[in-house]
Amino acid sequence: TSEELLFSYKGVLYPIGLCSAETFQALDTIEFRHDDVFLAVYPKCGTNWILHILSDLINAVPNNTGGSSKERIYGLEFETPEKFQKIKNAPSPRIFSTHLLYDDLPKAVFENKVKIVLVFRNPKDAAVSYYHFYNNNPGLPDISSWDEFFQKFMSGEVTWGSYYDHALSWNKHMDEENIMIITYEEMKENLHGGVKQIADFLGFSLPEEKIQSIAENATFESMSNKSQETHGKFAPMLFRKGGIGDWKNLFTEAQSQKMDAKFEECSAGTELGAKLKY
Ligand code: PPS
Repeated sequence: TSEELLFSYKGVLYPIGLCSAETFQALDTIEFRHDDVFLAVYPKCGTNWILHILSDLINAVPNNTGGSSKERIYGLEFETPEKFQKIKNAPSPRIFSTHLLYDDLPKAVFENKVKIVLVFRNPKDAAVSYYHFYNNNPGLPDISSWDEFFQKFMSGEVTWGSYYDHALSWNKHMDEENIMIITYEEMKENLHGGVKQIADFLGFSLPEEKIQSIAENATFESMSNKSQETHGKFAPMLFRKGGIGDWKNLFTEAQSQKMDAKFEECSAGTELGAKLKY
C-alpha cells in the first residue's frame, strides 16, 4: 500500500526512499566545522531556493577553498552512513540542509557554533505546496482530497512531522547569535535585500553587482527555467508556482481560522509571529 512508502522514527514519519533509521542513529558521528553553514527549513518552505542562493554566495567568495557545489552541499538526513567519509573530506565551507527540529540536530552543530540560516514560510502556503507535492511525488502516498491532507498537516501526520513542532522548536532559539531567520515572503518581496542579508550574516563581503546577479539567478522564473537541468525529474514538483497566497484556492474559511488559531498559539508575541504576515 502507499503507506509502506513511509516509516516512523521517534514518532515522526519519513519517506523510505530518502531517509533511514541508520542515518538518524549515525548523525552524531559527523564532525562539524565552524565554517559549515546550515539551512534549516520545514519541507516546502523554500529549501531549494535558499540552497541555490547559499551555493552561489559561497562560489562568489574569492577565498573559498575550491571544489564544486556538488561536493559541498549535503542534505543532512538524506545522506547514508556510507557517504559520511565523503562529507568528512569535503571542501569548506560545506552546506547542510535539514528539515529537522532544533532539538534533533547533532549537538556538535551548536558546539562548533555553526551558522544556521532558518527559513520560514506561512503555514497555509506550505500546506498547499505539500499537498501537491504528496500527490505528484511517487515516493509519497497519494492523498485523496485536500480536506484529508489538511487534517494530516494539522496533526503532524506528514513527513518530517508537524509544522508547528518545527516552529516551536526553532522559535526558542531565534535570538542565538549564530542563527538568522528570514521568511519566504520577505525573500519574495525583496530578493536582493534577502540575498544581501544572508551574505552579511555569513560575513561575506561581495560587490553590489554580485549580489544583484545572484538575486537575478534566484527568481522563480530563472530557477524554474533551469530546473530540468538542476533537479531532473523532480523539477515539476519542486518548482510549482513559487508564489504567495495559493492557499486561497483550497482553504475553506473554517480551515483558515483553524490554522490562524494554531499558528497564533505557537508564535504569539515572538519574532516569528511578527514576521510571518500573509
Ligand atoms: S522541499 O521538497 O521541502 O525541498 O521543497 P522546498 O524547496 O522547501 O519548497 C518548494 C516550494 O518553494 C518554491 N520555490 C520558489 N519560490 C520562489 N522563488 C524561487 N526561486 C523558488 N524556488 C522554489 C516552489 O515552487 C515550492 O512552492 P510551491 O508553492 O509548491 O510552488
